[in-house]
Amino acid sequence: MKYPKEYLDEIKTRLKVSTVVSKSVNLKKRGKEFVGLSPFKTEKTPSFTVNDEKGFYHCFSTSEHGNIFDFIMKTQNLKFGEAVKYLANLAGMQPYTFTKKDEEREKEWKQYSEIFNLYVEFYNKELLQNQNLNFAKEYLKKRNLTKEEVVNFKIGYVSSDANFYENIKSKFEEKIIVNTGLFYLDEKKNKYVERFKDRIIFPINSITGQPIALGGRTIKENNYLAKYINSPETPFFKKGSNLYNLDYARKLSNKIEYIYLVEGYMDVVSLSSKGIKNVVANLGTSLTDRQVSVLNQFYDDIIICFDGDESGYKAALRAAENLIKELKPEKQISFLFLPDKEDPDTFVNKNGKDYFIEFTKDKKIPIHNFILNHYKDQTKNDPSSLALFEKKLRSIAYSIKDEFIKKYVLEYFLEKISLLTPNSNQNINKNFYKKAKSLKSTQKYFNETKNLSSIEIKEFSFLYLIINNLNLIKENLNLLDNVKLFSKENKIIYESILHKLQNEENLNENSLSLDSQILSKISKFASIKHILNKIENDQFKIIELLQELIGDIKNYELELRIEKLESKFSKDLDENTFNELRELKKSQKIN
Ligand code: UTP
Ligand code: MN
Repeated sequence: MKYPKEYLDEIKTRLKVSTVVSKSVNLKKRGKEFVGLSPFKTEKTPSFTVNDEKGFYHCFSTSEHGNIFDFIMKTQNLKFGEAVKYLANLAGMQPYTFTKKDEEREKEWKQYSEIFNLYVEFYNKELLQNQNLNFAKEYLKKRNLTKEEVVNFKIGYVSSDANFYENIKSKFEEKIIVNTGLFYLDEKKNKYVERFKDRIIFPINSITGQPIALGGRTIKENNYLAKYINSPETPFFKKGSNLYNLDYARKLSNKIEYIYLVEGYMDVVSLSSKGIKNVVANLGTSLTDRQVSVLNQFYDDIIICFDGDESGYKAALRAAENLIKELKPEKQISFLFLPDKEDPDTFVNKNGKDYFIEFTKDKKIPIHNFILNHYKDQTKNDPSSLALFEKKLRSIAYSIKDEFIKKYVLEYFLEKISLLTPNSNQNINKNFYKKAKSLKSTQKYFNETKNLSSIEIKEFSFLYLIINNLNLIKENLNLLDNVKLFSKENKIIYESILHKLQNEENLNENSLSLDSQILSKISKFASIKHILNKIENDQFKIIELLQELIGDIKNYELELRIEKLESKFSKDLDENTFNELRELKKSQKIN
């Protein structure tokens, strides 16, 4: 008994040759192929190659050659049926059980595909040759499509008086014809009529190029007819599994790294006509995981380019939140947003291929960026809005199945969130740069300070204040309890000053015996200098200033610990880490 071709194709679609082979052979990537040591012969130099795009392996030393089924049969010494069972299981599919029904189904599939072939050929020829259909040709011409696209995509036109049912009713059983979804019963007249009457038809092919469904566009400008209708689900066409033009576009994957995923038939045909042939469409329904995983069999890099309108944007967001869950380290998904009111078809027609490709390079954004930007734009600078923002991003990150991707996306999100948190150190840094830039006393000064962190600047001020008020500080030494500096150099200086403050009387700058270069550096970068000069001998104000600086330095320490814990948390997602983090954040508020 034969396995249905669709079942075998499904296994092939789900499993790359390299996936199957790499279970027993160590493969290395070489261009679009993989190489490894032959499993059929003992050898030292690899002569065994695997080509996923063509779907076979080849061993140059033994001339063994075949697909995944051959590979399993040969290497595991299995019969074909056993190999199919093994691979179906590997592909996560139910084992195939042969019944009388299956035999029926196999027969049905043969007839189904035959009907579709006849139908598509017939209406394609009609469009190309029937003089009465010049208006349809005119319409396509107006939309910049030529005979070439009509031939390549087998586009057809079903005229209003057509009835293909009559042509085939003697050759096929009624049930089989009805199953194709090409006709429906007109109950008044009690006869089958064309579903796609008065429409341009776009055949949707299976991955192997067999037409299995249609999309049909009316060329009449009116509101009461749906612009497009699509084939209903049939025994051999399931929505959300197929992609328009995948049978063609998959073959380009050894030449082009990425694939465009667009919304509509016209987008695919237009881009192709302009020379961008690495394009598929998901056809009206929302994008499914299944469609993306099929596409991933051929392309690692998917660029989703929906229409530049609100519904296109919403569909993109929905797709992004859904697809990010399934993201894998070696795969990339990005989004390309077109200007308002444009779709890929209109945009490429206006601007041409080169511009479209340049535009892609400039404007595409990775999936996690898109999600972040979307929610950031909706966030206002108030606690509840920020909290919602953080919660949303965290929950999206946690939904990611791959542990590595989860870790990095979470880290990326947390970093961006902390930029919006007023007390975070990144923010202090940013503010500092802004101030330094706007002061612009000298560009040189700015360039020097640019290499200093905000905490170093604070430390310089802290040291400067101490050095210039040694006796006052000595009287208030308890204020320096538990103050820790962070930059190595400053820490050493601070410790030596502190030691002297604790042990010596009547200190002055000279008795500190600090290196003059260090002293001048402190004096140069202590931004507090000018304020101190102004308040000169007001001891009360000096102490206040000192306390403020100490507060900042201590806060920095806290932030540093929070930051470390956040990145630890993003890795271990551990409850204890989280609680520790929460405690720290609480104490940060008090400060
Ligand atoms: P669009 O309305 O963007 O169509 O719908 P389009 O591809 O740009 O077509 P033109 O340029 O107006 O001719 C995108 C896709 O959504 C599905 C179709 O698959 C269409 O290609 N759709 C749209 C429907 O299924 N039914 C509709 O009524 C409209
Ligand atoms: Mn369009």
